[in-house]
Amino acid sequence: MRAKAVLLALGLLGCDGWDESPKPPPPAPAPPGSVARGAAARQAALAPPGPAVDAALLARGADRHAIFCAPCHGPRGQGDGVVVARGFPAPPATAGVPPEFSLRAIATNQGGAHPFEDRLSPYDRWAIARFLEAVPR
Ligand code: HEC
Repeated sequence: MRAKAVLLALGLLGCDGWDESPKPPPPAPAPPGSVARGAAARQAALAPPGPAVDAALLARGADRHAIFCAPCHGPRGQGDGVVVARGFPAPPATAGVPPEFSLRAIATNQGGAHPFEDRLSPYDRWAIARFLEAVPR
């Protein structure tokens, strides 16, 4: 009986040094369109034909393009972004380019763009690529 009480007390005290740090919450479910870590999954997600081209994809593409590409290439991919007015050499027009061009430009940081490799998921890359493909030249 006494031994049990001692064991119970030890248990309550916690033999691992009073660790009262909060336990991490269980992992949240992955948001739609997200891709598991790992090169293979990433590569597969970047392979053609990519996600279905629908209104949601194009809207996402327009949104991401405005943030990541328009400063240089212009809001409609005409090569007339605001940087040009500030002395940056005019980048090529990207309106109507095939999606492979956009995917490659993002993957290789073509044109001295910032390294978008870590900022644009495969879904977002396809979204931008399909948006640009759909913009009339
Ligand atoms: C800092 C300015 C800048 C930003 C931001 C930028 N680009 Fe570019 N981009 C350039 C320049 C300059 C070139 C030309 C590079 C060359 O000819 O080697 C280029 C080239 C390209 C090309 C090649 C066009 C062709 O005809 O081969 C594509 C496609 C492209 N960019 C897409 C994008 C996309 C998509 C984004 C956004 C995710 C983006 N760029 C962001 C400056 C930029």
